[in-house]
Amino acid sequence: MRILHNFDIYYFFYFTCSNELKKLMKLKAFLSLLLLPFLNGFLFAQSDIIPRPAFVAETSGSVSFQNVWIEGENVSPELLSFFNKEVEKYGLADTGQKSGLPIRFYFDLSLEKSESYTLKIGKEGVAVAAKDETGLFYGFQTLLQMMRKNAKSRELQYCIIRDNPRYAWRGVMLDESRHFFGKEKVKQILDQMAMHKLNVFHWHLTDAPGWRIEIKKYPKLTAIGAIGDHSHANTSAQFYTQAEVSEIVAYAAERHIEVVPEIDMPGHASAAVLAYPELSGGGTERHPNFTFNPGKEGVYAFLDDVLDEVVQLFPSKYIHIGGDEVSFGNAEWETLSEVKELMKRERLHDLTEVEHYFIRRMQKKVHALGKVTLGWDELATSGVPKDEVQLMWWRHDKPEVLNKILSEGYDVVLCPRIPLYFDFKQIQSHENGRVWGEEIADLQSVYAFPETGIIPDNFGAQVSGLQANLWTERYDSPQSLDFILYPRIAAMAESAWTSEKRKEWPLFQEVLKSQLKLYEQDKIYYFDPFRPDFHPEPEGAKGENWQKRHLLKTQTD
Ligand code: ACM
Repeated sequence: MRILHNFDIYYFFYFTCSNELKKLMKLKAFLSLLLLPFLNGFLFAQSDIIPRPAFVAETSGSVSFQNVWIEGENVSPELLSFFNKEVEKYGLADTGQKSGLPIRFYFDLSLEKSESYTLKIGKEGVAVAAKDETGLFYGFQTLLQMMRKNAKSRELQYCIIRDNPRYAWRGVMLDESRHFFGKEKVKQILDQMAMHKLNVFHWHLTDAPGWRIEIKKYPKLTAIGAIGDHSHANTSAQFYTQAEVSEIVAYAAERHIEVVPEIDMPGHASAAVLAYPELSGGGTERHPNFTFNPGKEGVYAFLDDVLDEVVQLFPSKYIHIGGDEVSFGNAEWETLSEVKELMKRERLHDLTEVEHYFIRRMQKKVHALGKVTLGWDELATSGVPKDEVQLMWWRHDKPEVLNKILSEGYDVVLCPRIPLYFDFKQIQSHENGRVWGEEIADLQSVYAFPETGIIPDNFGAQVSGLQANLWTERYDSPQSLDFILYPRIAAMAESAWTSEKRKEWPLFQEVLKSQLKLYEQDKIYYFDPFRPDFHPEPEGAKGENWQKRHLLKTQTD
């Protein structure tokens, strides 16, 4: 596998040298190809990081790093302090004597792309250059991963790395409505996202089993709506206070991660409706009180108030308003007098048009708050303006929906169930986890995406990026969450960061072995695809019991 790195070296020098030298290099390249298998693991091991950088050239010579000291030119004290804390965490801190390996961070405005960086290791030490602080941050992440993986030898080989991301949106979604994991787990996920150069944390904070974010104007949302979870009807309220939300947002920002909140509407609203029954648009036995009533002005006033508070907490450019699966539980709308009046007044012909009216109205609110609306791919038919909205394509069995989204000019994040819903099984023999017919979301399919022909020609520029979604109906313990996220997060990150031509499945598998060791050090209960029994599959969640609360409530009403 290391031969691939060898090509990097020749590619780099080949274009900068004379014809005679080129001839010599061709001969040397040939000889190296013959020899390299024997030198495997000795010459070119250090830059084996995930996601794979765009360009790596390693040369002979190395520096040692018993400890490091960090300096920055015009770099913010916050960024330098973050770097210092991280090297301290991994036992690499400055001795205070300015001894050890110097690492210099500086801006190079000739680098064109945001997030890109150059990393050089030579006899003077390490230099990381970027156009912006995010680029410096990613240069640091590359270096830190290299140092952690070479912690035994404490040697770093001389090299030049140039790197930039393939996609701007590299996301992970966590559903904390179904089961609540709490801020320490969220912080650990953010740490791991940073290591993998992922930059969007999509926080699914409201859904049928629980409302998980404090809204000061409506205290019952958490006093009542946060009780219980997908498995239990009555566990005590679990939610994030506004102060905790701000703490997480700041923690993420320190790691150059944007936190995007999702307030799901007009379906998946049961927890909110349990707290404020006057908002109910009804539901079904399986999905009780599933919807908000789109005919009531009070519902819009309520949701506007909620978004007014949400916008204060999240500096993100986006607010996600859900919009998925409304038809699962909106049949009762037909019987509601307010909906009938709305249909007459607005000349809406059916419940789909009512749903679209609701979505257009809430999108206008988000726009008035100065934010871009995010929504699930159901929004594609609602008539929302393409310049103010970005969609998430999740229904993998409906490629025609993706084609429609793209041909109508929307930007899209790709998060199809297969292979990017990590609640699906990663190997067939696991007990827990979803399947779609025979299909699962195994590591190789995650890695192979999106090179599957799914993006129509000429529409690549509208694809903002990729996102892995952690739906948690089946997972309630921290271990079970780790088990579904790692190591698929690594495969998704490489697909999102690394260009198609630099992705190599056999090399990725090789490098993954050293990544698993980092997960081990970080006390993560990962699934080991090379030794599937190394960490036994954790028990799944108890099952679907949240509906009982609604039934109990109805009986006592
Ligand atoms: C979804 O999976 N309902 C977006």
